[in-house]
Amino acid sequence: MKKLKFYLDTANLPQISKLNQMGLVDGVTTNPTLVAREPGDFEDIIVAICKEVRGPVSAEAVSTDHDGIVKEAKRLHGLAPNVVVKIPIIPEGLRATKTVSALGIPVNMTLVFSANQGLLAAKAGASYISPFIGRLDDIGQRGMEVVQDLVKIRDNYRLKAQVLVGSIRHPLHVLEAAKIGADIATMPPEVMEKMWQHPLTDSGLKRFLDDWNKAKKS
Ligand code: E4P
Repeated sequence: MKKLKFYLDTANLPQISKLNQMGLVDGVTTNPTLVAREPGDFEDIIVAICKEVRGPVSAEAVSTDHDGIVKEAKRLHGLAPNVVVKIPIIPEGLRATKTVSALGIPVNMTLVFSANQGLLAAKAGASYISPFIGRLDDIGQRGMEVVQDLVKIRDNYRLKAQVLVGSIRHPLHVLEAAKIGADIATMPPEVMEKMWQHPLTDSGLKRFLDDWNKAKKS
């Protein structure tokens, strides 16, 4: 039975630990923007996250040439065995993905905005394809249509690459990703927290506890 996996899209260790303790975190994705928000050294941050979460942790290469990306990929993957190297879908990135994945280092191909880009990422050997849903919605395009296409392509060809839905902005994105059959939804911690929040749960619990206390059962 296939399992929908939840990743956290953050480099903030306290937030990751909090949700990981609830058993909700299958992996983590970071990007240069998310890492830049946190104090401390990039590699130290990745090592700490990898100690907290056993699942895949994406760390992004910032070089834009083949050799630079490959060098960074080797270094990043050397930090911990669960590091996945994030590489942008640019021509040099595709070439580097071929090299890096042939070395046995898993690649998360990032900044994917079309199904064609995703097809190429899979062809180059990426283990994860990351369509950015929210950023497409922001410019009036339907991000989830790209996910739908990628899931269909994955199933048509039994691709090993997993569809990792990124740039999630709200719980409905997670729900839609699950209904479509995406492999992974990566979300900011605030979105995961919104998934359990419901005013009827809060008022229902309050009423139960009030009734219990009034009857002096405790
Ligand atoms: C995915 O791996 C990216 O880190 C991320 O989801 C980007 O999201 P944003 O569009 O909210 O920056």
